[in-house]
Amino acid sequence: MSSIENIREKIAELKEELGAVIVAHNYQRPEVQDIADFVGDSLELARKCTQVDAETIVFCGVHFMAETAAILNPDRTVLLAESCAGCPMADMITADELREWQKRYPGAPVVCYVNSSAEVKAESYICCTSANGVAVVDSVPNDEIIFVPDQNLGHYISTQTKKRLIIYPGFCYVHHRIKPEQVKLAQRLHPDAEVIVHPECRPDVIALAEAALSTSQMLRYVKASSRESFIIGTEEGLLHQLRKENPDKFFYLLSNSQICTDMKKITLEVVARTMELRQNRITVPEEIRLKAKQAVDRMLAVS
Ligand code: 13P
Ligand code: SF4
Repeated sequence: MSSIENIREKIAELKEELGAVIVAHNYQRPEVQDIADFVGDSLELARKCTQVDAETIVFCGVHFMAETAAILNPDRTVLLAESCAGCPMADMITADELREWQKRYPGAPVVCYVNSSAEVKAESYICCTSANGVAVVDSVPNDEIIFVPDQNLGHYISTQTKKRLIIYPGFCYVHHRIKPEQVKLAQRLHPDAEVIVHPECRPDVIALAEAALSTSQMLRYVKASSRESFIIGTEEGLLHQLRKENPDKFFYLLSNSQICTDMKKITLEVVARTMELRQNRITVPEEIRLKAKQAVDRMLAVS
């Protein structure tokens, strides 16, 4: 038996022992996606974590995703496969910084992208993901809204709504470094391909694309499309599901640097070790959890 098969077998045994379910984000390594019970985007993973019946949720993704699962499931054990897998964009705003912004714009409720800490969520009126940002913003009764922390998602939403967004200047380095010149070059090289990008990309990149979609929305879009080839503006991990679901279609990345190093910290060995040692449990202090849960629940009620 190969060592990969040995690790897979070990993970299956540990799953049984722990009564665990393994969930993975679309950016995980292919072999990690393949051992997961459920693979999805941030919204789907948050939803899934309210529906599972398992005692333990092993989360293959970054910290804020596991923390959202812990906010929604205080009675379950949530283990983050790798404790130091974080999201640099989520770290760009602290609860203190958000409170400063709230002082500057009194009366404006906060919509916070789910890529944020529990403390920031606790200060917010409602959360959103890239899949439901427009619907969430439209659901807020006020006309003026503070949006944190992603400037690009905030800008994209502001082009799709009548609300006025006051946008915090955070960004995702993986998407923000994609330049319009790269899109134009890819379009010249693959003139028949459709360009789909994540709304964390810059406005001038989104302007050149056919659609701006969350990762799972991209999967659905490609499956439903009659086109044969696609230029993909998001983290390269998504190619695994895209190719699995569409073996006859062709996919091109905009550059070779579409890699989230935090997502890639999780390997099969790391998953097995975390389960074996029952380590990296994610918990949120109850006072913060209850406030953050309100913001997440409001979001789940919208979409
Ligand atoms: P999705 O919710 O679209 O999967 O995106 C999560 C993320 O971290 C994008 O960088
Ligand atoms: Fe954060 Fe960007 Fe990585 Fe997503 S791809 S987890 S936004 S750093």
